Amino acid sequence: MYKITKYSYLFSTFLLILATTSCKEAKKVETENTTETAEQMSAQPISKSEFGTLPNGTVVDKYTLTNANGIAIDVISYGGRITAIRMPDKNGKVENITLGFDKLKDYLADNPYFGALIGRYGNRIANAQFSIGENTYKLGANNGTNNLHGGPEGFDRAVWKVTPKADGDKSVLVLEYYSKDGEMGYPGNLATVVTYTLDNDNQFEINYEAETDKATVINLTQHAYFNLSGDFSKPITDHKVKIDADSFLPVDENLIPTGEIRNVSGTPFDFTQSKTVSKEIDADNKQIALGGGYDHCWVLNGVTGNLRTSAIAMHAASGRKLEVLTTEPGIQFYTGNFLDGTLPNPAGGYYGKRSGFCLETQHYPDSPNQPKFPSTKLEPGERYKTTTIFKFSIE
Ligand code: GLA
Repeated sequence: MYKITKYSYLFSTFLLILATTSCKEAKKVETENTTETAEQMSAQPISKSEFGTLPNGTVVDKYTLTNANGIAIDVISYGGRITAIRMPDKNGKVENITLGFDKLKDYLADNPYFGALIGRYGNRIANAQFSIGENTYKLGANNGTNNLHGGPEGFDRAVWKVTPKADGDKSVLVLEYYSKDGEMGYPGNLATVVTYTLDNDNQFEINYEAETDKATVINLTQHAYFNLSGDFSKPITDHKVKIDADSFLPVDENLIPTGEIRNVSGTPFDFTQSKTVSKEIDADNKQIALGGGYDHCWVLNGVTGNLRTSAIAMHAASGRKLEVLTTEPGIQFYTGNFLDGTLPNPAGGYYGKRSGFCLETQHYPDSPNQPKFPSTKLEPGERYKTTTIFKFSIE
Protein backbone atom coordinates (compact mmCIF):
# COMPACT_ATOMS: atom_id res chain seq x y z
CA MET A 1 0.00 0.00 0.00
CA TYR A 2 1.31 3.42 -0.86
CA LYS A 3 0.68 6.70 0.90
CA ILE A 4 -1.95 9.23 0.02
CA THR A 5 -0.38 12.67 -0.06
CA LYS A 6 -1.32 16.23 -0.70
CA TYR A 7 0.51 16.06 -4.03
CA SER A 8 -2.04 13.65 -5.38
CA TYR A 9 -3.88 16.40 -7.17
CA LEU A 10 -0.84 16.99 -9.37
CA PHE A 11 -1.13 13.50 -10.72
CA SER A 12 -4.85 13.72 -11.10
CA THR A 13 -4.29 16.83 -13.18
CA PHE A 14 -1.59 15.06 -15.16
CA LEU A 15 -3.93 12.12 -15.73
CA LEU A 16 -6.67 14.42 -16.90
CA ILE A 17 -4.43 16.39 -19.23
CA LEU A 18 -2.99 13.26 -20.81
CA ALA A 19 -6.37 11.62 -21.15
CA THR A 20 -7.94 14.59 -22.88
CA THR A 21 -5.06 15.76 -25.06
CA SER A 22 -4.94 14.56 -28.66
CA CYS A 23 -1.67 13.36 -30.16
CA LYS A 24 -1.44 16.52 -32.24
CA GLU A 25 -1.81 18.71 -29.19
CA ALA A 26 0.69 16.63 -27.26
CA LYS A 27 3.19 17.20 -30.02
CA LYS A 28 2.60 20.96 -29.80
CA VAL A 29 3.20 20.97 -26.04
CA GLU A 30 6.40 19.03 -26.57
CA THR A 31 7.65 21.50 -29.16
CA GLU A 32 6.89 24.42 -26.86
CA ASN A 33 8.73 22.72 -24.01
CA THR A 34 11.71 22.04 -26.23
CA THR A 35 11.96 25.74 -27.13
CA GLU A 36 11.56 26.73 -23.52
CA THR A 37 14.18 24.30 -22.28
CA ALA A 38 16.69 25.41 -24.90
CA GLU A 39 17.15 28.57 -22.84
CA GLN A 40 17.28 26.63 -19.59
CA MET A 41 19.72 24.23 -21.15
CA SER A 42 22.30 26.96 -21.72
CA ALA A 43 22.51 27.18 -17.91
CA GLN A 44 22.27 23.41 -17.54
CA PRO A 45 24.79 20.84 -18.64
CA ILE A 46 22.22 18.87 -20.64
CA SER A 47 22.62 18.37 -24.35
CA LYS A 48 20.03 16.91 -26.71
CA SER A 49 20.48 15.15 -30.04
CA GLU A 50 18.57 12.79 -32.29
CA PHE A 51 19.23 9.11 -31.53
CA GLY A 52 17.08 7.53 -34.23
CA THR A 53 13.61 7.16 -35.68
CA LEU A 54 11.05 4.46 -34.91
CA PRO A 55 9.34 2.63 -37.81
CA ASN A 56 6.22 4.79 -37.14
CA GLY A 57 8.24 7.97 -37.68
CA THR A 58 8.60 8.98 -34.02
CA VAL A 59 11.96 10.56 -33.35
CA VAL A 60 13.89 9.16 -30.37
CA ASP A 61 16.00 11.79 -28.62
CA LYS A 62 19.18 11.37 -26.65
CA TYR A 63 19.97 13.60 -23.66
CA THR A 64 23.36 13.83 -21.99
CA LEU A 65 23.61 14.79 -18.33
CA THR A 66 27.02 15.85 -17.10
CA ASN A 67 28.48 16.91 -13.78
CA ALA A 68 31.51 18.83 -12.55
CA ASN A 69 33.53 15.64 -11.97
CA GLY A 70 33.58 14.32 -15.50
CA ILE A 71 30.61 11.96 -15.30
CA ALA A 72 28.34 11.91 -18.36
CA ILE A 73 25.12 9.90 -18.61
CA ASP A 74 23.24 9.37 -21.87
CA VAL A 75 19.48 8.75 -21.71
CA ILE A 76 17.12 8.12 -24.63
CA SER A 77 13.39 8.73 -24.75
CA TYR A 78 12.80 5.14 -25.94
CA GLY A 79 12.31 3.13 -22.74
CA GLY A 80 13.91 5.92 -20.68
CA ARG A 81 17.03 3.90 -21.29
CA ILE A 82 20.46 4.79 -19.99
CA THR A 83 22.63 4.06 -23.00
CA ALA A 84 25.99 5.04 -21.51
CA ILE A 85 27.59 6.18 -18.24
CA ARG A 86 31.06 7.59 -18.78
CA MET A 87 33.21 8.04 -15.71
CA PRO A 88 36.93 8.39 -14.94
CA ASP A 89 38.90 5.58 -13.29
CA LYS A 90 41.51 6.18 -10.58
CA ASN A 91 43.99 7.36 -13.25
CA GLY A 92 41.51 9.73 -14.85
CA LYS A 93 40.77 7.48 -17.81
CA VAL A 94 37.14 8.00 -18.84
CA GLU A 95 35.26 4.87 -19.91
CA ASN A 96 31.69 3.73 -20.34
CA ILE A 97 30.60 1.51 -17.44
CA THR A 98 27.09 0.47 -18.52
CA LEU A 99 26.14 -1.96 -21.26
CA GLY A 100 24.26 -0.45 -24.17
CA PHE A 101 24.05 0.07 -27.90
CA ASP A 102 24.81 3.03 -30.15
CA LYS A 103 22.01 2.26 -32.61
CA LEU A 104 18.26 2.41 -32.03
CA LYS A 105 17.72 -0.73 -34.12
CA ASP A 106 19.58 -2.79 -31.51
CA TYR A 107 17.21 -1.56 -28.79
CA LEU A 108 14.20 -2.35 -31.01
CA ALA A 109 15.43 -5.92 -31.54
CA ASP A 110 15.29 -8.53 -28.80
CA ASN A 111 17.59 -7.49 -25.96
CA PRO A 112 17.74 -8.05 -22.21
CA TYR A 113 16.42 -4.64 -21.10
CA PHE A 114 19.77 -2.82 -21.34
CA GLY A 115 19.48 0.40 -19.28
CA ALA A 116 15.68 0.37 -19.41
CA LEU A 117 13.00 1.68 -17.13
CA ILE A 118 10.95 -1.35 -16.19
CA GLY A 119 7.18 -1.29 -15.71
CA ARG A 120 4.54 -1.92 -14.90
CA TYR A 121 6.06 -4.76 -12.93
CA GLY A 122 9.76 -5.45 -12.42
CA ASN A 123 10.64 -9.14 -12.62
CA ARG A 124 8.24 -12.07 -12.87
CA ILE A 125 4.55 -12.60 -12.22
CA ALA A 126 3.82 -16.33 -12.19
CA ASN A 127 1.58 -17.69 -14.94
CA ALA A 128 1.13 -14.11 -16.16
CA GLN A 129 -1.88 -13.45 -14.03
CA PHE A 130 -3.02 -12.05 -10.71
CA SER A 131 -6.24 -11.14 -8.96
CA ILE A 132 -7.46 -8.09 -7.13
CA GLY A 133 -10.63 -8.89 -5.24
CA GLU A 134 -13.01 -10.72 -7.59
CA ASN A 135 -11.16 -9.66 -10.72
CA THR A 136 -8.49 -11.80 -12.35
CA TYR A 137 -6.17 -10.04 -14.78
CA LYS A 138 -4.42 -11.94 -17.55
CA LEU A 139 -1.10 -10.51 -18.71
CA GLY A 140 1.07 -11.20 -21.73
CA ALA A 141 3.40 -14.16 -21.11
CA ASN A 142 6.87 -13.33 -22.39
CA ASN A 143 9.03 -15.61 -20.25
CA GLY A 144 7.71 -19.15 -20.54
CA THR A 145 4.35 -18.91 -18.83
CA ASN A 146 5.41 -15.86 -16.79
CA ASN A 147 5.02 -12.14 -17.31
CA LEU A 148 8.53 -10.63 -17.13
CA HIS A 149 9.29 -6.92 -16.67
CA GLY A 150 5.77 -5.82 -17.61
CA GLY A 151 5.30 -8.01 -20.68
CA PRO A 152 6.27 -7.95 -24.36
CA GLU A 153 5.65 -4.20 -24.76
CA GLY A 154 6.54 -2.93 -21.31
CA PHE A 155 7.75 0.51 -20.27
CA ASP A 156 11.16 -0.41 -21.71
CA ARG A 157 9.57 -0.09 -25.17
CA ALA A 158 7.49 3.02 -24.54
CA VAL A 159 8.47 6.45 -25.82
CA TRP A 160 8.66 8.70 -22.78
CA LYS A 161 8.07 12.43 -22.83
CA VAL A 162 11.36 13.86 -21.60
CA THR A 163 11.78 17.36 -20.14
CA PRO A 164 15.12 18.73 -18.97
CA LYS A 165 14.77 20.91 -15.86
CA ALA A 166 16.89 23.40 -14.01
CA ASP A 167 17.57 22.62 -10.33
CA GLY A 168 20.54 24.61 -9.06
CA ASP A 169 23.70 22.84 -10.18
CA LYS A 170 21.85 19.57 -10.74
CA SER A 171 21.10 18.06 -14.11
CA VAL A 172 17.50 16.85 -14.14
CA LEU A 173 15.41 14.92 -16.65
CA VAL A 174 11.71 14.38 -16.05
CA LEU A 175 10.29 11.39 -17.92
CA GLU A 176 6.53 10.91 -18.23
CA TYR A 177 4.51 8.02 -19.56
CA TYR A 178 0.78 7.45 -19.50
CA SER A 179 -0.10 3.75 -19.59
CA LYS A 180 -3.70 3.12 -20.56
CA ASP A 181 -6.14 0.92 -18.67
CA GLY A 182 -5.58 -2.65 -19.87
CA GLU A 183 -2.16 -2.04 -21.39
CA MET A 184 -0.31 -5.38 -21.29
CA GLY A 185 -3.31 -6.63 -19.31
CA TYR A 186 -2.77 -4.40 -16.25
CA PRO A 187 -5.79 -2.55 -14.86
CA GLY A 188 -6.07 1.21 -14.45
CA ASN A 189 -4.87 4.26 -16.34
CA LEU A 190 -1.44 4.76 -14.84
CA ALA A 191 0.28 8.16 -14.95
CA THR A 192 3.99 7.62 -14.33
CA VAL A 193 6.70 10.21 -13.74
CA VAL A 194 10.33 9.17 -13.36
CA THR A 195 12.92 11.81 -12.50
CA TYR A 196 16.61 11.29 -13.21
CA THR A 197 18.92 13.71 -11.34
CA LEU A 198 22.71 13.85 -11.59
CA ASP A 199 24.48 15.97 -8.98
CA ASN A 200 28.05 17.04 -8.25
CA ASP A 201 28.38 14.42 -5.48
CA ASN A 202 28.25 11.86 -8.32
CA GLN A 203 24.81 10.70 -7.30
CA PHE A 204 22.38 9.64 -9.99
CA GLU A 205 19.00 9.72 -8.28
CA ILE A 206 15.92 8.03 -9.70
CA ASN A 207 12.53 9.02 -8.36
CA TYR A 208 9.55 6.96 -9.41
CA GLU A 209 6.01 8.27 -8.96
CA ALA A 210 2.68 7.04 -10.25
CA GLU A 211 -1.05 7.26 -9.79
CA THR A 212 -3.87 5.08 -11.01
CA ASP A 213 -7.63 5.46 -11.45
CA LYS A 214 -8.35 1.77 -10.70
CA ALA A 215 -6.78 -0.67 -8.21
CA THR A 216 -3.67 -2.15 -9.81
CA VAL A 217 -0.18 -3.49 -9.04
CA ILE A 218 3.09 -1.68 -9.69
CA ASN A 219 6.81 -2.36 -9.26
CA LEU A 220 9.08 0.00 -11.17
CA THR A 221 12.83 -0.39 -11.49
CA GLN A 222 15.89 0.43 -13.59
CA HIS A 223 17.65 -2.35 -15.48
CA ALA A 224 21.13 -0.85 -16.05
CA TYR A 225 23.92 -3.40 -16.43
CA PHE A 226 27.23 -2.29 -14.92
CA ASN A 227 30.78 -3.34 -15.61
CA LEU A 228 32.93 -0.96 -13.60
CA SER A 229 36.11 -2.09 -15.36
CA GLY A 230 34.95 -0.20 -18.47
CA ASP A 231 36.08 -3.22 -20.50
CA PHE A 232 33.02 -5.21 -21.54
CA SER A 233 35.13 -8.03 -22.97
CA LYS A 234 35.81 -9.00 -19.35
CA PRO A 235 33.26 -10.65 -17.03
CA ILE A 236 32.19 -8.83 -13.88
CA THR A 237 33.17 -11.76 -11.68
CA ASP A 238 36.28 -9.90 -10.45
CA HIS A 239 34.11 -7.19 -8.83
CA LYS A 240 33.54 -7.21 -5.09
CA VAL A 241 29.93 -6.89 -3.97
CA LYS A 242 28.29 -6.25 -0.64
CA ILE A 243 24.52 -6.51 -0.14
CA ASP A 244 22.94 -5.43 3.12
CA ALA A 245 20.55 -8.36 3.34
CA ASP A 246 20.35 -11.19 5.87
CA SER A 247 18.04 -13.20 3.65
CA PHE A 248 17.08 -13.86 0.04
CA LEU A 249 14.20 -15.39 -1.89
CA PRO A 250 14.84 -18.92 -3.20
CA VAL A 251 13.20 -19.59 -6.59
CA ASP A 252 11.70 -22.55 -8.44
CA GLU A 253 12.69 -23.78 -11.90
CA ASN A 254 10.73 -20.90 -13.49
CA LEU A 255 12.65 -18.36 -11.35
CA ILE A 256 9.51 -17.62 -9.35
CA PRO A 257 10.08 -17.16 -5.58
CA THR A 258 8.91 -20.21 -3.67
CA GLY A 259 7.62 -17.96 -0.87
CA GLU A 260 10.39 -18.96 1.51
CA ILE A 261 12.57 -16.21 2.96
CA ARG A 262 15.90 -17.94 3.55
CA ASN A 263 18.81 -16.77 5.70
CA VAL A 264 21.95 -16.15 3.59
CA SER A 265 24.27 -17.29 6.34
CA GLY A 266 26.48 -20.19 5.22
CA THR A 267 25.22 -19.98 1.60
CA PRO A 268 26.76 -18.48 -1.60
CA PHE A 269 24.12 -15.77 -1.19
CA ASP A 270 25.85 -14.24 1.81
CA PHE A 271 27.10 -10.83 0.66
CA THR A 272 26.81 -9.21 4.08
CA GLN A 273 30.60 -8.81 3.92
CA SER A 274 32.12 -7.59 0.66
CA LYS A 275 32.95 -10.65 -1.46
CA THR A 276 34.43 -11.25 -4.91
CA VAL A 277 31.56 -12.34 -7.17
CA SER A 278 33.57 -15.26 -8.62
CA LYS A 279 34.00 -16.83 -5.17
CA GLU A 280 30.75 -18.81 -5.12
CA ILE A 281 28.96 -17.93 -8.36
CA ASP A 282 29.51 -21.47 -9.65
CA ALA A 283 29.14 -23.20 -6.30
CA ASP A 284 27.47 -26.60 -6.14
CA ASN A 285 24.19 -25.20 -4.87
CA LYS A 286 20.65 -25.79 -6.11
CA GLN A 287 19.71 -22.09 -6.12
CA ILE A 288 22.89 -21.16 -8.00
CA ALA A 289 22.07 -23.88 -10.54
CA LEU A 290 18.51 -22.60 -11.02
CA GLY A 291 19.72 -19.03 -11.62
CA GLY A 292 22.74 -20.06 -13.71
CA GLY A 293 24.61 -17.88 -11.20
CA TYR A 294 23.03 -15.04 -9.23
CA ASP A 295 19.54 -14.06 -10.41
CA HIS A 296 17.66 -13.65 -7.15
CA CYS A 297 15.98 -11.07 -5.00
CA TRP A 298 17.66 -10.18 -1.71
CA VAL A 299 15.48 -9.10 1.20
CA LEU A 300 17.08 -5.85 2.26
CA ASN A 301 17.77 -4.97 5.86
CA GLY A 302 16.36 -1.74 7.24
CA VAL A 303 13.00 -0.13 6.95
CA THR A 304 11.17 0.01 3.61
CA GLY A 305 10.58 3.65 2.74
CA ASN A 306 13.83 4.77 4.36
CA LEU A 307 16.59 5.60 1.90
CA ARG A 308 19.55 3.44 2.94
CA THR A 309 22.72 2.02 1.39
CA SER A 310 21.74 -1.45 0.25
CA ALA A 311 24.50 -2.62 -2.05
CA ILE A 312 28.07 -1.69 -2.93
CA ALA A 313 30.03 -2.89 -5.95
CA MET A 314 33.74 -2.27 -6.24
CA HIS A 315 36.26 -2.88 -8.99
CA ALA A 316 39.77 -2.74 -7.49
CA ALA A 317 41.85 -2.36 -10.68
CA SER A 318 39.96 0.72 -11.93
CA GLY A 319 39.13 2.00 -8.44
CA ARG A 320 35.52 2.53 -9.50
CA LYS A 321 32.84 2.05 -6.89
CA LEU A 322 29.05 2.00 -7.14
CA GLU A 323 26.80 2.37 -4.11
CA VAL A 324 23.09 1.69 -4.39
CA LEU A 325 20.73 3.42 -2.00
CA THR A 326 17.04 2.66 -2.05
CA THR A 327 13.72 2.96 -0.26
CA GLU A 328 12.66 -0.43 -1.66
CA PRO A 329 12.43 -3.71 0.32
CA GLY A 330 14.35 -5.81 -2.22
CA ILE A 331 17.14 -5.90 -4.76
CA GLN A 332 17.54 -8.29 -7.69
CA PHE A 333 21.22 -9.06 -8.13
CA TYR A 334 21.51 -10.47 -11.63
CA THR A 335 24.96 -11.40 -12.95
CA GLY A 336 24.17 -11.35 -16.67
CA ASN A 337 24.02 -15.13 -16.88
CA PHE A 338 21.83 -15.02 -20.00
CA LEU A 339 24.19 -12.79 -22.00
CA ASP A 340 25.48 -15.12 -24.68
CA GLY A 341 27.86 -13.27 -26.98
CA THR A 342 25.27 -12.42 -29.65
CA LEU A 343 24.57 -8.74 -28.89
CA PRO A 344 26.98 -6.16 -30.36
CA ASN A 345 29.12 -4.03 -28.08
CA PRO A 346 29.66 -0.66 -29.83
CA ALA A 347 33.22 -0.62 -28.43
CA GLY A 348 33.93 -3.83 -30.38
CA GLY A 349 32.99 -7.48 -30.12
CA TYR A 350 29.87 -8.83 -28.42
CA TYR A 351 28.47 -8.89 -24.90
CA GLY A 352 29.54 -12.19 -23.36
CA LYS A 353 28.18 -14.17 -20.44
CA ARG A 354 28.41 -12.19 -17.20
CA SER A 355 29.84 -9.09 -18.92
CA GLY A 356 27.50 -6.97 -16.79
CA PHE A 357 25.59 -7.12 -13.52
CA CYS A 358 22.32 -5.48 -12.47
CA LEU A 359 21.23 -4.27 -9.07
CA GLU A 360 17.50 -3.82 -9.63
CA THR A 361 15.87 -2.19 -6.61
CA GLN A 362 12.28 -3.32 -6.29
CA HIS A 363 9.51 -5.07 -4.41
CA TYR A 364 9.72 -8.85 -4.50
CA PRO A 365 8.98 -10.75 -7.71
CA ASP A 366 5.50 -12.27 -7.96
CA SER A 367 4.22 -10.23 -4.99
CA PRO A 368 0.71 -9.95 -6.51
CA ASN A 369 0.38 -13.74 -6.06
CA GLN A 370 2.20 -14.00 -2.74
CA PRO A 371 0.13 -12.52 0.08
CA LYS A 372 3.01 -12.85 2.57
CA PHE A 373 5.21 -10.48 0.56
CA PRO A 374 4.92 -6.69 1.02
CA SER A 375 2.01 -5.47 -1.10
CA THR A 376 2.52 -3.95 -4.55
CA LYS A 377 -1.09 -2.86 -4.81
CA LEU A 378 -1.82 0.74 -5.74
CA GLU A 379 -5.29 2.17 -5.21
CA PRO A 380 -6.84 5.29 -6.72
CA GLY A 381 -6.03 8.30 -4.55
CA GLU A 382 -2.69 6.85 -3.43
CA ARG A 383 0.63 7.94 -4.80
CA TYR A 384 3.34 5.40 -5.60
CA LYS A 385 6.70 6.88 -4.71
CA THR A 386 10.09 5.20 -4.46
CA THR A 387 13.67 6.44 -4.71
CA THR A 388 16.91 4.78 -5.74
CA ILE A 389 20.35 6.36 -6.00
CA PHE A 390 23.35 5.06 -7.92
CA LYS A 391 26.34 6.79 -6.32
CA PHE A 392 29.65 6.66 -8.13
CA SER A 393 33.09 7.20 -6.60
CA ILE A 394 36.75 6.26 -6.96
CA GLU A 395 38.82 4.55 -4.27
C1 GLA B 1 16.04 -9.88 -14.77
C2 GLA B 1 15.72 -11.28 -14.51
C3 GLA B 1 16.62 -12.18 -15.27
C4 GLA B 1 16.61 -11.86 -16.73
C5 GLA B 1 16.94 -10.41 -16.91
C6 GLA B 1 16.82 -9.99 -18.35
O1 GLA B 1 17.08 -9.43 -14.07
O2 GLA B 1 15.74 -11.61 -13.15
O3 GLA B 1 16.23 -13.52 -15.09
O4 GLA B 1 15.34 -12.12 -17.27
O5 GLA B 1 16.12 -9.60 -16.16
O6 GLA B 1 17.46 -10.83 -19.21
